[in-house]
Amino acid sequence: MGSHLCDRLLAEGHEVISLDNLYTGSKRNIAHLLSRPDFSFIQHDVVDPIKLEVDWVFNLACPASPVHYQHNPVKTVKTSVMGTLNMLGLAKRTHARIMQASTSEVYGDPLEHPQTEGYWGNVNPIGLRSCYDEGKRVAETLMMDYHRQNGVDTRIVRIFNTYGPRMATGDGRVISNFVVQALRGEKLTVYGDGEQTRSFCFVDDMIDAFVRLMDYQGDDAHEPVNVGGGHERSMNDVVSCL
Ligand SMILES: NC(=O)c1ccc[n+]([C@@H]2O[C@H](COP(=O)([O-])OP(=O)(O)OC[C@H]3O[C@@H](n4cnc5c(N)ncnc54)[C@H](O)[C@@H]3O)[C@@H](O)[C@H]2O)c1
Repeated sequence: MGSHLCDRLLAEGHEVISLDNLYTGSKRNIAHLLSRPDFSFIQHDVVDPIKLEVDWVFNLACPASPVHYQHNPVKTVKTSVMGTLNMLGLAKRTHARIMQASTSEVYGDPLEHPQTEGYWGNVNPIGLRSCYDEGKRVAETLMMDYHRQNGVDTRIVRIFNTYGPRMATGDGRVISNFVVQALRGEKLTVYGDGEQTRSFCFVDDMIDAFVRLMDYQGDDAHEPVNVGGGHERSMNDVVSCL
């Protein structure tokens, strides 16, 4: 999503500094931007502090699929907790507005469907996925506390499944799995009866929501916002679209 966000911000005339440690990201996704004078790339790990002069911060840094975030769970927690602390420190020092990429996973194994922002979730602090889910929950806590305690101008987006160009092929997410299998002429792998549902959002729509939320300045701008495709689709539905 980060590379698409860079495209969008540059198209709107902003100068963009992209930070990435390239754990799951690839420089290929921003190759078309590297020669632009209004774009710079710094290979940087958000676990370490950084001094920059900025007006807006979008903190998207975190491995997003289980295969990657479970590879080094301690690092995943550090990325969400220390990375968010460092980005909030940057926002506080520069008086920048900051958006945190949170996730539908903060609801854990939800007992309510669909989830609204007022639902606190059905969560597990000690499971194999907790490094991701709980890391994102602490990141939200930090955002709200920096807002209340230090007046930092924060935004929180709870992202639901998002897909689009430049997805990594081997990360085990359902849309990239299906597309890769279809391109290779292989049989599509559907788990169970295929009637389990997800909501899917196209990446351009998600980026549009990020920018709109950053522009929004209402009294409730700091509250978390769920962003997703809006309606549920079964895996069988998705397969029939390919
Ligand atoms: N794609 C989705 O459906 C989805 C759903 C919910 C939340 N999110 C969140 O949105 C954000 C972007 O996800 P994405 O789908 O674009 O995944 P992605 O893996 O393509 O992007 C994550 C980026 O963060 C970078 N990164 C990881 N750890 C880092 C660190 N310590 N320092 C600096 N950079 C680091 C990776 O190299 C990668 O470029 C993530 O925070 C993810 O948790 C995504």
